[in-house]
Amino acid sequence: MKLKQEINKRRTFGIVSHPDAGKTTLTEKLLLFGGAIQEAGAVKSNKIKKGATSDFMEIERQRGISVATSVLAFEYKDIKINILDTPGHKDFAEDTFRTLTAVDSVIVVVDVAKGVEEQTEKLVKVCRMRKIPIIVFINKLDREGKDAFDLLDEIEQKLGLSVTPLSFPIGMGYDFKGIYNIWEKNVNLFTGDPRKDIEETVEIDEIENPELDELIGEKHAEELRDNLDLALSVYPEFDIEEYRKADLQPVFFGSALNNFGVRELLDCFIKIAPSPRPKESDTRLVEPTEDKFSGFVFKIHANMDPKHRDRLAFVKIVSGTFERNKPYLHVRNQKKVKFSSPNAFFAEKKEIVDISYPGDIVGLHDTGNFKIGDTLTEGEKMQYKGIPSFSPEHFRYINNADPMKSKQLEKGIDQLMDEGVAQLFKLELNNRKVIGTVGALQFEVIQYRLEHEYGAKCNYENLNVYKALWVEPSDEKNEEFKEFKRVKAKYLAKDKKNQLVFLADSAFSLQMTQQKYPTIKFHLTSEF
Ligand code: G4P
Repeated sequence: MKLKQEINKRRTFGIVSHPDAGKTTLTEKLLLFGGAIQEAGAVKSNKIKKGATSDFMEIERQRGISVATSVLAFEYKDIKINILDTPGHKDFAEDTFRTLTAVDSVIVVVDVAKGVEEQTEKLVKVCRMRKIPIIVFINKLDREGKDAFDLLDEIEQKLGLSVTPLSFPIGMGYDFKGIYNIWEKNVNLFTGDPRKDIEETVEIDEIENPELDELIGEKHAEELRDNLDLALSVYPEFDIEEYRKADLQPVFFGSALNNFGVRELLDCFIKIAPSPRPKESDTRLVEPTEDKFSGFVFKIHANMDPKHRDRLAFVKIVSGTFERNKPYLHVRNQKKVKFSSPNAFFAEKKEIVDISYPGDIVGLHDTGNFKIGDTLTEGEKMQYKGIPSFSPEHFRYINNADPMKSKQLEKGIDQLMDEGVAQLFKLELNNRKVIGTVGALQFEVIQYRLEHEYGAKCNYENLNVYKALWVEPSDEKNEEFKEFKRVKAKYLAKDKKNQLVFLADSAFSLQMTQQKYPTIKFHLTSEF
């Protein structure tokens, strides 16, 4: 009973956007509503700032911030809200993909002037694949931007969503008058004052009401009536089940910086967003309401303090209750482990907790036992699915540059890979190590961290690889697969889990290989 109540009151979600659309600003305003922070400016932006320092130092700075902002929790109207941080920078896309395995819904922020941008497209594609319910927030209405209908069209086309507006803007930019809230049937007038209180909302339950003309002027009132007519005839009516099945995406308009339209978004969010959802494991679907605890690691933060080899593994609780000092099974290692000081996260601090519920994130101190994707249970041997590796974009040989420190290098590489900074492949032919990354910056980060955290030195050597493809033979023993392994021996490697990977050197050679070996499947992700 208690467990069910705790589950029902939780909403765990992520905010995704292209950098600069307003994710940090929106997060901050949400925290202000929850009373979790007292003033604006308290949430540090996790984005990479260009300029002042070299790029990898900037990433270190970002890494420091992202420990603090990994999970931001607060209560609003008796609902416990957990916001999981998702870096917008493209070099951290994998980090964001992994975090998306731990959310139950997302809010996508779109800049009214820039419309749908590249990172948003990529991230929403992953949300769609995973059937994650999405609410769209169109931001910066205080600025000149695209026409609302054009934007809704663009969102449908570029993001492949099926939208329905739950609010509608009145004017825009200099002429921005406010927002009509279709969901609550009222008008919120824009004054440009971020401290503006919710009292200034005026109930207009009937759109023909002449009061509307007085409030926003005849011209805007007429325009709004026309727009709403059109919107209601073009877009489907909002349906909560459709939204939760990820078949329909409600859209809100506002200005995060001016704290405008944010309360409407939050009030609707807590009513419609799903509480913690069931999750698929390799053996069965696990319901959050099950008595027995289970959860999985979706993020690891390591060595923030170089003096202590500390790592914090972030575990999303899927089912049951997680208790301090209770032994749990680390399924991959087949070992029982207990945690004496699990951390819960709040807006600006973390604290030791005795008990946590599905939807919550606990931070577990770890000395190197966890890898991303690891599952903890009360004894059941199952592994949560859905944390695949994606083919990296950049590949280089990594060499030891200090023969006296080969142990340190080995350990450093291992731990950084566990953390998910990059992927390691070992060539079948000669056991040489190849590092694959999403962004070119990561090579610098790895070199820097190996030196500063492990006292090891490395250098890189170029390698011409286009994509890494996970190989799935129809039958390991068939002649075609044997021939493929013989002919392509130079291009074959094993990943961390010992899965076979084909390192194609060009799109053309990949195509030729696929044609030549039609019974073998080549996958761009490690989970298929
Ligand atoms: P991000 O986390 O998605 O990268 O975006 P962030 O919130 O940092 O916002 C990016 C920029 O857009 C910031 O300005 C922020 O103040 C501005 N912004 C956010 N919401 C609104 C809005 O509703 N209206 C307007 N006009 N601007 C908005 P900046 O100059 O880059 O940073 P800062 O110096 O103001 O922090």
